[in-house]
Amino acid sequence: MIKVLMVCLGNICRSPLAEGILKSKVDGLSVFVDSAGTGGWHIGELPDLRSIGIARQNRIDISDQRCRKFIARDFDDFDHIYVMDRNNLSDVLSVAKSETHRKKVKMILSVESETDTMEVPDPYYGGERGFEEVFILLDRACEQIAKSLDNE
Ligand code: 4NP
Repeated sequence: MIKVLMVCLGNICRSPLAEGILKSKVDGLSVFVDSAGTGGWHIGELPDLRSIGIARQNRIDISDQRCRKFIARDFDDFDHIYVMDRNNLSDVLSVAKSETHRKKVKMILSVESETDTMEVPDPYYGGERGFEEVFILLDRACEQIAKSLDNE
């Protein structure tokens, strides 16, 4: 079983979407997908309703997810850790204890060769349009991740 963790700041907007999208693409593979946030403000909460909405429009249900905080043990429990932006990257790497841990961490959009955008923008303070943009970026990246997991 390959274990993949999606990480953003709040674990209510971007990483729950990334978790749901990747799960929808690895059906039938031995892959476990989870998500977490580097900040602890929303622990136990559902994903943001705008994330639930854009997922639902794309026939993905993320309403069973609950927010949790990223913890150092995730480095041992997961094989791949995908972060959304540079702040997530430095926050996650700041608790890595070894090169093995550090090697597990990637910016999620770095898996895509045909994009200039390196960061998945934080849609929390914006409108619905931001969530549509995030969905498109994550859908493309997760397509690549699913392919690479299929080859592992
Ligand atoms: P996310 O968005 O990192 O994509 O889940 C955010 C959600 C909540 C907050 C920040 C970012 N917040 O400050 O509460």
